[in-house]
This record gives sequence, structure tokens and C-alpha cells, in this order.
Amino acid sequence: MNSMEKRLNIGVLVSGSGSNLQSIIDHRESGLLDVNIRVVISNNPDAYALERSKKHEIPSVVIRHSDFRDREDFDRKVIEVLKDYAVELVVLSGFMRVITPAFLHAFPMKIMNIHPALLPAFPGVHAQQRAVEYGVKFSGCTVHFVDEGVDTGPIIIQSVVPVYDDDTEESLAARILKEEHRIYPRAIQFYAEGRIGVTGRKVRIRDSDRTCESALHNPPLAGF
Ligand code: GAR
Repeated sequence: MNSMEKRLNIGVLVSGSGSNLQSIIDHRESGLLDVNIRVVISNNPDAYALERSKKHEIPSVVIRHSDFRDREDFDRKVIEVLKDYAVELVVLSGFMRVITPAFLHAFPMKIMNIHPALLPAFPGVHAQQRAVEYGVKFSGCTVHFVDEGVDTGPIIIQSVVPVYDDDTEESLAARILKEEHRIYPRAIQFYAEGRIGVTGRKVRIRDSDRTCESALHNPPLAGF
């Protein structure tokens, strides 16, 4: 990027460990992600993600949801902080709060989320556990724009992982998380490059290669 070009300002919302935040920071620091991480906001004062932002000297703000009368009030405060930091894209990164219409209106098609399942399968909480219990042979993760539903917005990128017979919620979650760390920075960079077009539910990434057309099987067909 030319030094005169303006970098996209992002704000990252977290509630917990923040391993996706760490991946975004690492991609930023290795030059693969052309964004300014302007602020990290947590609704949980004990989130480990706050340690990560401190270590990398990224401003962080704790907004405890218990300090607010209702979701609207809480979201108003979050919007205010995001605007103060001139955030252009909001990145939900393990942020465990449902957001209100006022938030969506303040950042229309400018809020991304990552979900640990192949949406529209297993939206909501405990996605990895439900995938194991259901007996699916593949699961994965999805980056999508946020709309008024729970994990229902237009899909930007997905990654598929196998689910094995002896998987537990934990082993599957770990396999999926590795992929989350790859696709979230990629989706943000697509946005930063202005390559994302949205028509209705469909997201098109301009100038991206076509995924090779080979099917995956689990268990494998083994010469069949
Ligand atoms: C990730 O697996 C993310 O997909 C999930 O929470 C975890 C946060 O991990 N998000 C959701 O389930 C949202 N519905 P992290 O704090 O280590 O990035």
C-alpha cells in the first residue's frame, strides 16, 4: 500500500479469550492486513483479549453490559465509542451479545462476525457441540455480515473441516479455531481492498480465484 493511501479503521468487539483478535493483530503486524486496529471493546472486564490489546498497545475500552438498563442503552454506548475512534468496519470476534437494530443502522453492512459452524447449520451457541452430537461429517467456520437475525447475514467466506468419529466438542472446536484464524483476517482484507460486493444475500469477492472443483468425502472413498 502506498503510504499516502488511507488505511481502513476497524474496531474489534470481544468477550473472551480473543484468539481471533490475536490473529488479526498478527496478520496486521506481518503486513498481510492493511488496517488500523483503532480500538478493542469488551463487555467483559476479565476478557483475556484485553491483555492482548494492551500488549500490542491498542486502545481498549470496557463497557460492562450490567451497567446499562437494556440492550439499546448498551449499544448506544458502544456506537459512541466506535464513532469516537472513527471506526469504519466493526469486527465481532467472540463477542457474545446480540446486537440491536440501532447498532445495525449505525453501521449498515459494516459489521462482520465469525461463527464456528458452516452456516446456516448450527447458528447460535454451542455450535461445535451440536455438530458433534448431530453426527455431521464436516463442519467449519463462517465469516458473515451481521443482519437482524442470529448468524443469518450474507456469507463472505467459509472453511470446511472434517468431523471424526472420536471428536469431542473440544477437539472439533480446536480444529475449527485454526481455520477461523486464517479466514477472518482474509475477509477483513477483502473488505479493506474494496473487493466485496453484496447483492441481497449474495456476497461476491471481486478478482478472487475460483475454488478448485474437487469434492471432499468423509470417510474417504478409497479407490471406490
Ligand atoms: C470463536 O470460536 C468464535 O467463532 C466464537 O467464539 C469463539 C471466540 O474465540 N463465536 C461465536 O460463537 C459467536 N456466535 P476467541 O475469543 O478466542 O476469538
